[in-house]
Amino acid sequence: MSFEGGSYDRALTRAVEHAREWLDSVPDRPVRPQRSAADLLAGFGGPLPDRPTAPEDVVDLLATLADPGLMAMQSGRFFGWVIGGTLPAALAADWLVSAWDQNCGLRYATPAAAAAEEAAAAWLLDLLGLPAGAGVGFVTGATMANFAGLAAARSSVLSRSGWDLGRDGLNGGPRIHVLAGAERHDTIDLALRYLGLGAPQPVAADDQGRIRVTALAESLEAVDRDAPVIVCLQAGNVHSGAFDPLAEAIEIAHRHGAWVHVDGAFGLWAAATPALRGLTAGLEAADSWATDAHKTLNVPYDCGIAIVSDPLAMRSALGVRASYLIAEESGPGDPQDRVPELSRRARGVPVWAALRSLGRTGVAELVEGLASHARTMAEGIAAVEGAHVINDVVYTQICVSFGDDARTRAVTARLIDDGTAWMSGSRWHGQDVLRVSVSNWSTDDEDVRRSVDAVRRAVEATTV
Ligand SMILES: Cc1ncc(COP(=O)(O)O)c(C=O)c1O
Repeated sequence: MSFEGGSYDRALTRAVEHAREWLDSVPDRPVRPQRSAADLLAGFGGPLPDRPTAPEDVVDLLATLADPGLMAMQSGRFFGWVIGGTLPAALAADWLVSAWDQNCGLRYATPAAAAAEEAAAAWLLDLLGLPAGAGVGFVTGATMANFAGLAAARSSVLSRSGWDLGRDGLNGGPRIHVLAGAERHDTIDLALRYLGLGAPQPVAADDQGRIRVTALAESLEAVDRDAPVIVCLQAGNVHSGAFDPLAEAIEIAHRHGAWVHVDGAFGLWAAATPALRGLTAGLEAADSWATDAHKTLNVPYDCGIAIVSDPLAMRSALGVRASYLIAEESGPGDPQDRVPELSRRARGVPVWAALRSLGRTGVAELVEGLASHARTMAEGIAAVEGAHVINDVVYTQICVSFGDDARTRAVTARLIDDGTAWMSGSRWHGQDVLRVSVSNWSTDDEDVRRSVDAVRRAVEATTV
């Protein structure tokens, strides 16, 4: 196909210019978007033009239409949900991934992508202290990393019970008992739903959301010794940042023959720093792990990482065989053996670039910096009249109440409207909270100071 202006040059040049303008604007623009999706739709929508438009004009139009509706998630003062920014090397690598346009399911077909991802995988296992031969798959996020780990768990525990999931499916097979902490992330339930395993049996958690080991032991005792069992643990509670007592919990679960999956969407990275590694003690003994690179590692969306200690369990749960696919039958296998989809972008390449750019000490500094800014932020907010930090700030997450729920909601709304910083609201332990997640590499002392000031202003503005 050819049409006027159908070359890459001008379109890419304009894209670089718009990207630069956007990045330059991030430190000073309001963090919140200025227009709603409904407002923006009029510009994006309307009837599809009959005639082609030059690519560079499309790029200009896109940048202009999108600008007022962009959330400055890359801002050092964005603290919503658990969302990282973008390291320069990772962003640039991600552009190359799009330019190369490798469909990287097969090692034979896309060797550069496979090699970069395999190298990144080896570095990750080393940094996180996980078994060197584990299977590593680059998925869209921790949701799918949980799915992939639990898919391997499902077929493996059934196979140990003498049931062939691949051949016979779930119908008529032994019931799999899934136990998970009461404060597991909701995507564990979602992954289990996708896998046809139903809701997990909740195990009591303590005041920080950590699974209670005694309750886990009691729940396991109540399960038939020969039944297939999966235990889901957590490294990093989305509200408190707390870590389950992994060493003890994994030991007990294994004693009962269970497969242990750890959701460490952002918390797994604590293992990469000497200062915080103690939070994840015992982590390496689990059977599968889920984490995100688009959170703590600060690569662009999207990138999650599924890790399974037994690569064959991962491959038999996820891999696809077809006559037209040239499979790697020996060696590390194909990238598609380690993710739920056959076709995908080479999203492990920005991970390689981020790790190569930071180095081992850079990763440790990044993670420690986030935790240290979280502590400073918590101290600053706690000093604001009427603010109560209600969790132990052990990692990157802070929950704040401003007295009653209505007041907490009012302060949150006012803070977001102010535009200096962005923090999300939530409900935790029966009360409304302002949630702060320090996950952006670029957050500095000044961002923390300005954000605490913004909280103070929001409190003052809502004081009656
Ligand atoms: C503990 C935990 N697990 C899973 C997820 C889901 O991650 P994603 O949105 O990358 O799929 C999150 C998201 O914040 C999380 O905090």
